[in-house]
Amino acid sequence: MRKILLAAVDRNLAIGRNGALLYRVPEDLRRFRQLTTGQVVLCGRKTLESFPNGKPLPGRETVLLSRRYEGKDEPLLTVARTPEEALEKAAVLCGNEKNLYVIGGESVYRLFAPVCETADLTEIDAETPDADAFFPALREQDGWVRAEASPEQVSSSGLRFRYVTYQKERV
Ligand SMILES: NC(=O)c1ccc[n+]([C@@H]2O[C@H](COP(=O)([O-])OP(=O)(O)OC[C@H]3O[C@@H](n4cnc5c(N)ncnc54)[C@H](OP(=O)(O)O)[C@@H]3O)[C@@H](O)[C@H]2O)c1
Repeated sequence: MRKILLAAVDRNLAIGRNGALLYRVPEDLRRFRQLTTGQVVLCGRKTLESFPNGKPLPGRETVLLSRRYEGKDEPLLTVARTPEEALEKAAVLCGNEKNLYVIGGESVYRLFAPVCETADLTEIDAETPDADAFFPALREQDGWVRAEASPEQVSSSGLRFRYVTYQKERV
């Protein structure tokens, strides 16, 4: 199972405010759907709550990390109470074919960054002073290298952004 961090970050690595995303980049939402459809995603309870109707996204399996969530497993949703349980359940759902996309929020990125091999970031050329959720810095001393970057694009919403892939080398 490949474990991939997937996030949209701004110049300050900000990812959210008041439980919501900071920016609207329709191209990035389409890419998110393309990458994750048919795969397995892992998210925290607050991120699940930010989805339409608080429901798992269609067309992909979601592993939800939560101590307090009161719902049970349902089609496309598997509840895990600890990070270890989340990885075990994700491995079963992924089998040999699927990738695990770690899709946030902040607490989940911080927990799983050390065990992910890749980070696919959408780097948005903007900043929001009162953001309250951040992506962790991917530090060279932890083995992270910037492996690939797309040319900068301008979104239909006017924001400039690029897709950047970081890979973790053995340290
Ligand atoms: N820009 C992006 O790409 C992106 C992507 C995703 C999210 N976001 C943003 O990130 C923000 C949310 O981030 P967040 O950190 O506040 O919330 P979160 O990571 O989505 O969810 C936090 C919840 O996850 C559960 N959790 C965390 N650690 C756990 C552990 N060790 N064991 C069991 N459960 C654990 C807890 O749920 P319980 O309280 O139920 O126990 C915790 O309250 C929002 O603003 C969202 O829009 C941005």
